[in-house]
Amino acid sequence: MKIAVLGDIHSNLEALNAVLEETKRLGCEKYVCIGDIVGYNANPRECLEIVRSLDLLAVVMGNHDSYTSNTRELIGFNLQAAQAVEWTRQQLTEEELTWLGNLPMKRDIFLTSPPARFSVVHSTMDNPNMWGYIFDRFTAAASMQYQWTPLCFFGHTHTPLAFDKTDTVIGGLYESLRLLPNHKYLINVGSVGQPRDRDPRAAFVTYDVEMGLVTLHRVEYDIATSQQKIIDSGLPARLAERLAIGR
Ligand SMILES: [Fe+2]
Repeated sequence: MKIAVLGDIHSNLEALNAVLEETKRLGCEKYVCIGDIVGYNANPRECLEIVRSLDLLAVVMGNHDSYTSNTRELIGFNLQAAQAVEWTRQQLTEEELTWLGNLPMKRDIFLTSPPARFSVVHSTMDNPNMWGYIFDRFTAAASMQYQWTPLCFFGHTHTPLAFDKTDTVIGGLYESLRLLPNHKYLINVGSVGQPRDRDPRAAFVTYDVEMGLVTLHRVEYDIATSQQKIIDSGLPARLAERLAIGR
C-alpha cells in the first residue's frame, strides 16, 4: 500500500491539483495531511473541500489552521502571513472553521494489514501546540523523545529534511529512504503550496508500507495562476513573488 503524505498545502489549489494527479499516477490509495491546509494563498475553501474528500488516514492541525479557526491574537506571524490569516477567516463558513478548529495536534496510526506504525504532527512531537521549528538534530532529538512509533511525518518549516536516530541523531536532505529496523525516523515532507528550499515545485512524500520506503516527490504546477489569484484577492504581493523562487 502506498500512502501519500501532504503538508503545508496553504490554499494553493494549482499545486494541490498537480500533486493529486501525481499521487493517482503513482497508485496511492490513502492520504495523510500534515496540516496548514489554509493560509498564504487564495483558495482556502477549494483546498479544504478537496482534502476532506480524500481517503484520509490522518489529518492534524497546523498553526495557520489553528489561528484561522479562532480569534486569538496572531503570535509568531509576520505581517503578510497575518494578513492572509485575517483574509482566510472571512472566506470560510462557520462549519469549515469549526472543522479546522477541531483537528487534533498529533496522531499515532496503527495499521494491521499491511502492518505499520507511524505518527503525524505539524510542528514537533514534544510541544505540538508551541509551533516550534525542527531544522537541526538537536530539535529533532527533542521531538523524537516524545515519538512512540518508529516513523513520524511532520511539516511547518516547508523544507524537506529527514532525521534518523540510532544511538545518536543524524539528519539532512533526502530523496528516498529505506526504513531499517531499530531506527527511529522523523521526516519533513516539504510543502505542497509554498516550498521554501529554493525549489519552487510542489513537494510531497509517498510511503510504500510493504517496501518500507519513503520517497520525496517534486511536481511542477501552474505557479503563474496561483500568483495571479493572490494579486486578484488583494493578498500581499510578496506572497505571490515568493512562490516563483521557493522561499
Ligand atoms: Fe506552513
